[in-house]
Amino acid sequence: AQRETTLTLQLKDTQTTISRHIYGHFSEHLGRCIYDGFWVDPAMNIPKKDRIRLDVVAALKRIRIPNLRWPGGCFADEYHWRDGIGERSKRPKMINTHWGGVTEDNSFGTHEFLELCALLGTEPYIAGNVGSGTVEEMSKWVEYLNADGDTPLTRLRKGNGRDQPWKVRFWGVGNESWGCGGNMTPEYYSGEFRRYATFARNYPGASLKRIAGGANSADYNWTEVLMKSIPHNMMWGLSLHHYTVPTGRWNQKGSATRFDEKEYFNTMKNCLFMDELVTKHAAIMDRYDPGKRVALVVDEWGIWTDVEPGTNPGFLYQQNSLRDALIAATTLNIFNNHADRVRMANLAQTVNVLQALILTKGADMLLTPTYHVFDMYQQHMDARLVPLKITAPDYISGTQKIPAVNASASLDAKGRLCITLVNIDPQNNMTIHTPLPGTGYRNINGKLLHSGAFTDVNSFEHKTKVTPVAFKGAQLKAGELTVQLPPLSVVSLLLD
Ligand code: AHR
Repeated sequence: AQRETTLTLQLKDTQTTISRHIYGHFSEHLGRCIYDGFWVDPAMNIPKKDRIRLDVVAALKRIRIPNLRWPGGCFADEYHWRDGIGERSKRPKMINTHWGGVTEDNSFGTHEFLELCALLGTEPYIAGNVGSGTVEEMSKWVEYLNADGDTPLTRLRKGNGRDQPWKVRFWGVGNESWGCGGNMTPEYYSGEFRRYATFARNYPGASLKRIAGGANSADYNWTEVLMKSIPHNMMWGLSLHHYTVPTGRWNQKGSATRFDEKEYFNTMKNCLFMDELVTKHAAIMDRYDPGKRVALVVDEWGIWTDVEPGTNPGFLYQQNSLRDALIAATTLNIFNNHADRVRMANLAQTVNVLQALILTKGADMLLTPTYHVFDMYQQHMDARLVPLKITAPDYISGTQKIPAVNASASLDAKGRLCITLVNIDPQNNMTIHTPLPGTGYRNINGKLLHSGAFTDVNSFEHKTKVTPVAFKGAQLKAGELTVQLPPLSVVSLLLD
């Protein structure tokens, strides 16, 4: 069936910039993300720099990932950076107790991560250890990374082959300190943050953007206590973690590939909850920080399903379907529309873990539907947000309903208008009318990501089942843009 709606753009009200850092990613020492993801067996016969596989790097470079968070996650609070530097064969090993109990050989450490970031042309975002590390340990790590001149730590770094400081800016002070990062109360963590953040020093040319470990989903009290207890000039950002769990139950999350429409609806409803979360956390922040100095950093988000049958439950390997693409596109629209407060976000996790952009199998790799969404949304990075209104028709399931369509829009420095649209309704086409009087746009460049079923995936047997194609369903006529959105689709338009 065909349904209609109007999208109104406030083109004269574009004072907010969509930070490119909203399009950030996350790579933990977990399952096959770092090891056998980015960092492969030296004997693997593919183009590599050291042990970093370059096909993965090239794919991520194409979508210009702005930052990469590392080494965790829960792993960050048991990681001791000194174990990951120096001669590799001499590095101590440890057990990765959170993720599968596997042996971590520390072959991928500080230098390797920063080499990866350099190859990607991306900014590092490092999460320091508060849960099981000391203030001194964190302080020295920052000195090792960012100090110049002649100190014991800079000598150590130089001895390990790196003369110049890396000037890392994004600095997480712990991770999930309410849970795997130390089971702290918000009051206790606030005190710890103040202490750790004090000794994580600024060095010339490397002023840290310290990010406090924020709330678990709807724990609004956590945000309230931190905003009240931490001086705002100590904290560039405050984080938030929220995952979309299809069933809403952590003990049986639902399959990544086998689900019916009821579960699909429920998943999209749980995904849209991000809008309420961001709105409510931002409202609390507004009360303490009306000038919006502190950024809301959603540094873990995405869909979390049961693992692929037959894989290690601790490795969090899941397939990625068209549903994942609709989640990514919807969530990025939400972040764009809240860009006044959300200035950084990190999808969990880049390769082979949770809502991955890339899956690998030996020397082979594929791009997931989620990857293509980041590709189609690139134009929003650092553009000016165009606030919008859309009265979306409902997508109804039983007694429940959610908006069938969502969107965001931005203007780039050249005045080009980018609009990204999502139709999550599996049955209905949607015609969207957007008045654009007197704007003078003539050309439309459109891309469409769409497939027949929400369960469709890119597999190693059929890598391009869900892949973007040119979109011909948009027209400019008499000062109005008309777009025909197919069911289950993501569309990006660039008007000039
Ligand atoms: O992304 C997987 C895990 O989810 C992270 O390690 C942790 O921070 C969160 O609970």
